[in-house]
Amino acid sequence: MKPDDFAFFTKYIYDQTGLVLGPDKMYLIESRLAPLARKYGVANIDLLVGQLRTSRTADMQRDIVDAMMTNESFFFRDGKPFDQFRQIVLPGLLQSRAARKSFRIWCAAASTGQEPYTLAMILKEEAAKLAGWRVDIVGTDISHEALERAKSGIYTQFEVQRGLPIQLLVKYFKQQGDKWQIAPEIRSAVQYKSFNLLSDFAALGAFDVIFCRNVLIYFDQKTKGTILDRMAKLLPADGLLYLGGAETVLGVTERFQPMPGQRGIYQVVGSGGGAAKAV
Ligand SMILES: C[S@@+](CC[C@H](N)C(=O)[O-])C[C@H]1O[C@@H](n2cnc3c(N)ncnc32)[C@H](O)[C@@H]1O
Repeated sequence: MKPDDFAFFTKYIYDQTGLVLGPDKMYLIESRLAPLARKYGVANIDLLVGQLRTSRTADMQRDIVDAMMTNESFFFRDGKPFDQFRQIVLPGLLQSRAARKSFRIWCAAASTGQEPYTLAMILKEEAAKLAGWRVDIVGTDISHEALERAKSGIYTQFEVQRGLPIQLLVKYFKQQGDKWQIAPEIRSAVQYKSFNLLSDFAALGAFDVIFCRNVLIYFDQKTKGTILDRMAKLLPADGLLYLGGAETVLGVTERFQPMPGQRGIYQVVGSGGGAAKAV
């Protein structure tokens, strides 16, 4: 790719998604765009970037953003965060939200659905404690293709073998040829929406817990800070934020602080507790 095209393309992706693509990502860009050049009937990616510059369609923009996203995800990713959810966060919510009997969870980079469905399965396993409760799980992502896969609830053998306990596979998935489809009651527990983390959060409503895992790593400090500050506004004083294992709020925002003893979970600053406090 010519330097001028590279500069245009990386700025375009940064402006559209927040994703920072340095010079070391040239190979990644070329390998992701090559199939799109074929799809759009042009001989090479220089011509594709030329079209993006001069005559892009909405479909092309969507395909290019989709192609540049890394949608890697798996069920019960990293294990511990979901143990913490079941053992600490959920009991805390059951106690602190007992009067209204409802809470809302946002998976802010839901990708192909493994994270929200992991939460939906945990909640299903705890259904006896949640009788009469309303729980919303909202899964959002910028990637159209990832959301379509998430909505379908269909996973490969490889995907269901990564992290998903066998008893939950047997209980909540049905084999369809060489794939597995998640049960309708788990699928319907999650609402999916297309959403760009660079846009205004107001329309999403308030949440009690936000999962924003393994997406901030792709952004620069300024974008991370803006996103986290906006997330803090959607949470009540005792709301909780989950980040990925390689992510932190330290040096990024002053609106969250680590939850003592619970790696990966953050409390709104000034809350003095978090939804799990009561436990
Ligand atoms: C690596 S996946 C993380 C999936 C899941 N949270 C997990 O931890 O397994 C990162 C996701 O972030 C999404 N993403 C990247 N930039 C985004 C943006 N600006 N707005 C919304 N989603 C974005 C990508 O499409 C991708 O699906």
